[in-house]
Amino acid sequence: MSNDGVNEGRRRVLTALTSVVGAAGVVGAAVPFVGSWNPSAKAKAAGAPVEVNISKLEPGQMMTVEWRGKPVYVFRRTPEAMASLSSIEGRLRDPASEESVQPAYAQNATRAIEGKEDVSVLLGLCTHLGCAPTYRPEVGAEDLGGDEWIGGFFCRCHGSKFDLAGRVFEGVPAPINLEIPPYQYLSDTLLLIGDDQGA
Ligand code: FES
Repeated sequence: MSNDGVNEGRRRVLTALTSVVGAAGVVGAAVPFVGSWNPSAKAKAAGAPVEVNISKLEPGQMMTVEWRGKPVYVFRRTPEAMASLSSIEGRLRDPASEESVQPAYAQNATRAIEGKEDVSVLLGLCTHLGCAPTYRPEVGAEDLGGDEWIGGFFCRCHGSKFDLAGRVFEGVPAPINLEIPPYQYLSDTLLLIGDDQGA
């Protein structure tokens, strides 16, 4: 047998051994992964619904809460803001929220639960590329169009604008309205975000 033959033989043996070790390594490494697929208590808590006390939320005010690592905007609209919602429908891309994402009970003129129309709950992530839009409730804000601006949200990343129901205006990059997560009321002043079972 030539040297080449010997070397070839050794190479085959070494390759076979390496494969066995490699397979054992995979099995060994697989065990910890199986464990990590079971969600930890911390991970479960991170996805759990969040209770929000809105008893101190005044008209015009907004609070931000975190749910599943995402910002959720909760704000109370003023009577003026409520009245203005229907006046701008001609400037909106999806005024009836037909293409947008929300629970069925929030697909209405105010995008809110019936009987609690002044309180709005929105996911604070722009539907263009996910930046957090800024709350800009000031009617007539010069930098957002002056008299045309009736209050809403402005995304600084690429200039998308939304009204005070999270509905997107025409002519901006965001394709659909801000998403509404599932939510319900546990009492008049206590919201539960992330769960609408039994609502
Ligand atoms: S991410 Fe909001 S406009 Fe692009």
